[in-house]
Amino acid sequence: MYTQAMDLPNPDGSPQLASVDLEAREAAFNDRAGRGEIVEARDWMPEGYRKTLVRQISQHAHSEIVGMLPEGNWVTRAPSLKRKTILLAKIQDEGGHGLYLYAAAETLGVSRDELLNALHTGKAKYSSIFNYPTLSWADIGVIGWLVDGAAIMNQVPLCRCSYGPYARAMVRICKEESFHQRQGFDLLLTMAKGTDAQRAMVQDAVNRWWWPVLMMFGPHDKDSQNSELSMKWGIKRITNDELRQQFVDATIPQGELLGVTFPDPELRYNEARGHYDFGPIDWTEFWNVVNGHGPLNRERLAARVAAWDEGAWVREAALAHAAKQAARERAAA
Ligand code: 3HC
Repeated sequence: MYTQAMDLPNPDGSPQLASVDLEAREAAFNDRAGRGEIVEARDWMPEGYRKTLVRQISQHAHSEIVGMLPEGNWVTRAPSLKRKTILLAKIQDEGGHGLYLYAAAETLGVSRDELLNALHTGKAKYSSIFNYPTLSWADIGVIGWLVDGAAIMNQVPLCRCSYGPYARAMVRICKEESFHQRQGFDLLLTMAKGTDAQRAMVQDAVNRWWWPVLMMFGPHDKDSQNSELSMKWGIKRITNDELRQQFVDATIPQGELLGVTFPDPELRYNEARGHYDFGPIDWTEFWNVVNGHGPLNRERLAARVAAWDEGAWVREAALAHAAKQAARERAAA
């Protein structure tokens, strides 16, 4: 899957490239990135490519970390030890995904502190979906089934992203996401085979999460300010709308297996298209949530800032230990 890393010469500290050289270099870069060549951290890359990767990878990492909060709300209330351990494992995975992705972003010359500061000050985004409340145990199943299901749809193509460190991080993340989606569906299947009250709980959760999940794929392609460049540079391999359609087509039959309906009167299979037609997304709600006015935006950010502040002593202790260790090694050398 991986071809020879692009061998564009590294910047060797020689004088600033003349604009004509830069143009030629960018044209060569665009040509080869779009053809599926892999760019490595040490390769030359246009500043715009680097910037959009920092933007997308760091916001992806923020999403993983903030995404731990909605599910964390149910660890102490899981209905059995088995469900509690599964949920703990999933939440732990999400934290790990965030760390892989921060590490991938750091290969682009940004520090983790800078990235986290952008999150804590509200400058950086994270996925809108994590600003919604988890009101019942069925929400935990729906998050696994639908949110992680949508994440897999969007993340598998990123395993073929032109930026090597991001693509490789995604290979491992996608393997774990599959477990996340499966455990969510399994949880809902158990409830669907349970009492009427449990079935009603599942349906209520699907009704509340369905549309925010479709928003996870981002604005329509015509309104997506980053897609054109991301597609040209091989960062994005499939567009927002195509991935959303793939997700709907794959999910509706699963919902039928669970015995749930979807809160969309326009949802129906279109034989001529070979896809499900679905109704319009409420983009006012989407941009409201993206711009910080969703149900729980303030609480999510406050929780992250509090965790950062309360964890300062751990960072200081680790740094002090590392400094002491380094001093010992220097003295022994
Ligand atoms: N929530 C918040 N912001 C969103 C968004 C969403 N659901 N969808 C789009 N946006 C933002 C974009 O970040 C962009 O703003 P910016 O330029 O300030 O960053 C703006 O809306 C326009 O959207 P574009 O389509 O032009 O932006 P992209 O080309 O970056 O596409 C994306 C958006 C499809 C989310 C893309 O960034 C992407 O694929 N990111 C990597 C995957 C990811 O982050 N998934 C989020 C969920 S992670 C997750 O679910 C974890 C799982 O374990 C549960």
